[in-house]
Amino acid sequence: MRVLVVKDAAEAAKVSADIIEKIVREEPECTLGLATGSSPVGMYQELARRCADEGLDFSKIHSVNLDEYVGLEPTHDQSYRYFMNDNLFDHINIDKANTYVAKGTGDIEENLKEFNAVLDKTDIRIQVLGVGPDGHLGFNEPGAFMRDGAHMEILDDSTIEANKRFFASKEDVPTKAVTMGMGNIMRAQALLMIIGGHKPEAASRLLMEDKIDPMCPATFMRMHRDATVVIEEALAKEIGYIK
Ligand code: GLP
Repeated sequence: MRVLVVKDAAEAAKVSADIIEKIVREEPECTLGLATGSSPVGMYQELARRCADEGLDFSKIHSVNLDEYVGLEPTHDQSYRYFMNDNLFDHINIDKANTYVAKGTGDIEENLKEFNAVLDKTDIRIQVLGVGPDGHLGFNEPGAFMRDGAHMEILDDSTIEANKRFFASKEDVPTKAVTMGMGNIMRAQALLMIIGGHKPEAASRLLMEDKIDPMCPATFMRMHRDATVVIEEALAKEIGYIK
């Protein structure tokens, strides 16, 4: 696992955008696996800037997203479809018909069939990841075992607590989500995790321990042959990764 210690969020956005840019320039028709949450927002802004100012071309790029809340229409301002349009797709020259975010409303079983069918025929060139304070990836919550394919998860209280900042109240946070499984994530050709916010426990378990533990799904990253973690200096110091 490659660990890039950066000064601050601005540098995290730049080095992460560099990694994505290289792939997009070399493989302009590939599929990017994308993530929501605040961690990748700076990178998305940087990619949008490079698209506008430097001709970074997304016109033939495809994308598939990690997850979606159950119960939110794509037009809801906290749905992950809305987030992706608002934070990235509306600002780059991607064809939205080539972007896939699983549906969180309607017949969830049918939605999951569709999500799995999309994943089965997609070779994700690089999967962008954030990490939950409890170590979740996508919405794969800690548990006795991990799931291979796309499925529904009941969200942990700590996840609802962490995500309530985006909603009027905790009661408004959906309690379920559909997510890629850990198998889908691990089959991506490369992984890029940006650790935004203050998550010392997840960061420490990922970087300071030698355990692959389903109670901290982020640790699965260590098994991937092309995984990059971007972490800010202050947090890397706090967990003892650097002096
Ligand atoms: C949500 C998403 C995750 C994301 C996490 C961390 O729970 N489902 O994919 O990694 O938030 O978000 P943030 O980057 O805002 O801390």
